Amino acid sequence: MIPKKIEDAFSEQVKFELESAYIYLAMAAYFDAEGFEGMGRWMRAQVQEEVTHAMRFYKHIVERGGRARLHALAMPAQDWQSPLGAFQAAYEHEQFITAKIDGLVKLAQAEGDHASRTLLQWFVDEQVEEEASTSKVVQDLKLVGSDGRGILMLDRELGQRTFVLAPDLATFYAQAAATQA
Ligand SMILES: [Fe+2]
Ligand SMILES: [Fe+2]
Repeated sequence: MIPKKIEDAFSEQVKFELESAYIYLAMAAYFDAEGFEGMGRWMRAQVQEEVTHAMRFYKHIVERGGRARLHALAMPAQDWQSPLGAFQAAYEHEQFITAKIDGLVKLAQAEGDHASRTLLQWFVDEQVEEEASTSKVVQDLKLVGSDGRGILMLDRELGQRTFVLAPDLATFYAQAAATQA
């Protein structure tokens, strides 16, 4: 059985991950409206990824006989000054999420909850990638500055991104969750 404190903290993390999806959906809407097709697509892929992050915590709670309790999502920002402003906000948000994951690692250690170790280590590694990928775009946008052709090339490059659903989550989505408990 999942410890109550872990169940509560993971339920709250479901909220933070869905808030991430909501923030990136707002950024996708901004890019799509402003004609940055590649960045819009990149953000839409990021939305999908964040939903799977939420579902990884949800799946863990369910599989250990717990119940996720949902929270209200905060209203995301809707407008940014520039693509750089949006990606800067994305990078800062990922740093915020990394701090949340680190807090969960500490809580799991304090609770002696070894069962959540593999899940949390996955997220520790994932956050290294999340910070690196958003910070890379920030650096690239700073490099191109106001050069229109540079921004267009970067937009095309970011538009190459695709989302692939991890097989374990695809399986979880497709089967009755209750049979796993
Ligand atoms: Fe996430
Ligand atoms: Fe993320």
